[in-house]
Amino acid sequence: MNLPGAQTPVCLPATAATIAAAAACLRNGGVVGFPTETVYGLGADATNVDAVRRVFAIKGRPAEHPLIVHLASRDWLTHWARNVPASAELLAEHFWPGPLTLVLPRQPHVADAVTGGQASVALRVPAHPVALALLQATGALVAPSANRFGRISPTTAEHVREELGNAVDMLLDGGPCAIGVESTVISLLGEQPALLRPGGISVAQLEAVLGRPLVAAPQGVRAPGRLPAHYAPATPLEVLPTAQLAQRATVLARDGRRVALLTFANSSAGLATLPATHREVMPDDAISYARLLYATLRQLDARAFDVLLVEATPDNPEWLAISDRLARAAFATLQA
Ligand code: TXA
Ligand code: MG
Repeated sequence: MNLPGAQTPVCLPATAATIAAAAACLRNGGVVGFPTETVYGLGADATNVDAVRRVFAIKGRPAEHPLIVHLASRDWLTHWARNVPASAELLAEHFWPGPLTLVLPRQPHVADAVTGGQASVALRVPAHPVALALLQATGALVAPSANRFGRISPTTAEHVREELGNAVDMLLDGGPCAIGVESTVISLLGEQPALLRPGGISVAQLEAVLGRPLVAAPQGVRAPGRLPAHYAPATPLEVLPTAQLAQRATVLARDGRRVALLTFANSSAGLATLPATHREVMPDDAISYARLLYATLRQLDARAFDVLLVEATPDNPEWLAISDRLARAAFATLQA
């Protein structure tokens, strides 16, 4: 474990040997950054309250915001949750391992430190070989995204290092995350399954398996991913319809502001020739866009633009997770 004043965290390529070392560190109460298929997580033993508290401290996350418990397989579902409805079993069977988190009534042994004192627990089996190997060797791990509270989730080990420096004991590098946005969070606490956070599994995929529509999130559920301002880059960000991009960029540039545009390849002509702007062309399909979004925002943050202007994404369900993250990033700007 890192002692005060210790050097930078050990960031190691994930191999059988480094995974075993990370598992040992976790069993001893350590905190380890590791890859999942969605984003990098900040892992700790879900049964060790001191280790869980360290995760909150490292992230700067308010203690009442609950964490996801990651499991090695769906066989552990009823160990952590009780009154598990058939819909939860069905979703777990179809989508685990994968980017889906299920919120269920918790078993009494689940620590308040994990659930933020709520009577429910969030569970997921991640689909990344490194995450699964760690889980098989340790049991259950809490793993919020490995970023400081409110900021962009990391999709590479290098991002974790930038975010958390040597606050973590170990960092496993498993390459860039394949999905790039966080898991979809579904509540199964009410009569009907409810969407708490759009993410890696689309609403259409879930509804096809459930055979009925998801309902909107009930009021009163505490989930930081649902705060209006979240997932935000440091640079102010605005989301605009295609037709307004050129004009807004021109006004800002005229005021001497350094503007970066995030647009689709075929968005309106005229953007390419705008003076004093940088243009980042994003993919047209939602899956590729999601994979690149956070890394692109981070790269642009590092270049110290004054404003990021993002072309609004298509208004269709496939883009829901992306438009949700962009709206929250933009809201953070409005508040700043
Ligand atoms: O893809 C992911 O889910 C990543 C990777 C690392 O697995 N993890 C992640 O964790 O995004 P975090 O802590 O950044 O976001 C967890 C989300 C939050 O919106 C949290 O409020 C919600 O899950 N959540 C956790 N427990 C909950 C509960 N008992 N009730 C409602 N929402 C809950
Ligand atoms: Mg997060």
